[in-house]
Amino acid sequence: MNKSYKIHFFFFCKIVNYFMFCYIVMPYISTTDLDSYLNSVMGMFWCGFNGFNQLNIESNVNLDFHAYYNKGDYGKILQVDFSWSTASILTSSGKVLTSGLINKKIINFEVLDDLGYGPFKSISSSESKILAIDSIGNCWSYSKCDGKWKDITPILQRERQDSVSKNQNQPLINYVCCSDTTHLAATHNEIYSIPTKIFNSKFKVTQVVCGFEHIVILMETGCLYTQGSSSRGQLGHGELNEEDHPRLLKSLDGIRVINTSAGGWHTAAITEYNDLYMWGWNHSGQLGISNSPENGGIIMAPEPVLINWAEDTDIEQVSLGARHSMVLSKNNILWGCGWNAHKQLGIETYQLTCDRMINLSDLSPLLKYNILFEQASIATKFRPLFDRVLVKRLDAVKQSKGGIMLPESAAKKIREATVIAVGPGARTQDGKTVPIDVNVGDRVLLPEYGGTAIQLDDDDSYTIFKESELLAKVE
Ligand SMILES: *[C@@H]1O[C@H](CO)[C@@H](O)[C@H](O)[C@H]1NC(C)=O
Ligand SMILES: *[C@@H]1O[C@H](CO)[C@@H](O)[C@H](O)[C@H]1NC(C)=O
Ligand SMILES: *[C@@H]1O[C@H](CO)[C@@H](O)[C@H](O)[C@H]1NC(C)=O
Repeated sequence: MNKSYKIHFFFFCKIVNYFMFCYIVMPYISTTDLDSYLNSVMGMFWCGFNGFNQLNIESNVNLDFHAYYNKGDYGKILQVDFSWSTASILTSSGKVLTSGLINKKIINFEVLDDLGYGPFKSISSSESKILAIDSIGNCWSYSKCDGKWKDITPILQRERQDSVSKNQNQPLINYVCCSDTTHLAATHNEIYSIPTKIFNSKFKVTQVVCGFEHIVILMETGCLYTQGSSSRGQLGHGELNEEDHPRLLKSLDGIRVINTSAGGWHTAAITEYNDLYMWGWNHSGQLGISNSPENGGIIMAPEPVLINWAEDTDIEQVSLGARHSMVLSKNNILWGCGWNAHKQLGIETYQLTCDRMINLSDLSPLLKYNILFEQASIATKFRPLFDRVLVKRLDAVKQSKGGIMLPESAAKKIREATVIAVGPGARTQDGKTVPIDVNVGDRVLLPEYGGTAIQLDDDDSYTIFKESELLAKVE
């Protein structure tokens, strides 16, 4: 019987720095009994810039998606956040695990200053700090300089009006968000640029996002406020003036916004009808509207523009990076455009920029996901030595709409295989390592005989070959 796994993927893209781009992260929610297995590998893939090994992958290849393995017993991934040099994960046990460069040291998903703080329920990370909200709504700040968590709620409370702070039982902080220039905390209806109060309203705040130099506030009423620099039109008011206070975005008047995202210098909003509006910087095509080649295109859009690139693109999610944009439509197609120099779109096709929305579901290594899961479980147990390569004989993998069909294990032996793990390479007499020419995930053609069959996880389709025995790579 074929098993079918529906992929419900979503992604986080976190803008971080002028030169830095973000990652696509896709947790899987399986509808089958594989749940526990998937949780154990935390089924998450990412790609993008990896200059500080913040993705905790051995090679510096930044093209592919990489699964993150749940090493400790920290539970499922709830949230992921990035800064220029770090990646942080919030798990369901309320722990924050960080990798990348902290205090001049490269670490790999370590719990920071583990003195039992938390459990945390939300995080946001900048180059200098990680902000976190604990289960009772207190706001914590981890300083990457002194390596300590500190409860900053009292500082915020001092700023609050007395009438509000008397009600101690209410969760104080609902949202945190940071960029390298701003650290924000939001209560039910107030926003602090820590520690200064910059906004309050009689309506509820439902989302706060940060670009490099601007912030966007979404209210329960569906209105947006923007504040900060509008040097590239990112505030959407039609002017390039800086705004010192959050200003209501009038151009979207009468349109109810349900979600928003801020990129480096561009902004996006999803409306209640699942339309997408974008505005701001378009220098790398991140607005995804390449329809005016005759005038060379626009460099910025200082007012919201309805982005409509294909039929039937009801928007489910939008997430903007420093200079790129990712959109998930309701029919489960992932779209992206903009800067791709670090392969942050997850594809190889575009060297630098891609100025129109492209269908990434088509091109992305998503389809390789079952190989990656396998690799996740196997590679932790099994590491070939020297120039040996662990392969798995291929079954016929079929893809279906809205999900992926996993194959029955093929009865016949097939001569094609997928590389699951590779050794470091053979050593020459003078101790040098000869690099291996095949990569994990490659398809290869096997010789009819040879290899050493091994049984892993009750599966007998694994075989070890020397690299030189493999016949060909299959494109
Ligand atoms: C906006 O979308 C993000 C990503 O899907 C989600 O985490 C967040 O809760 C949404 N915010 C609102 C107000 O719906
Ligand atoms: C946005 O920028 C890209 C790249 O420069 C350009 O091709 C495109 O036409 C621009 N968009 C618009 C609406 O002009
Ligand atoms: C996007 O790509 C997927 C995967 O190849 C394909 O099934 C789908 O039809 C494409 N959708 C559009 C609108 O191009």
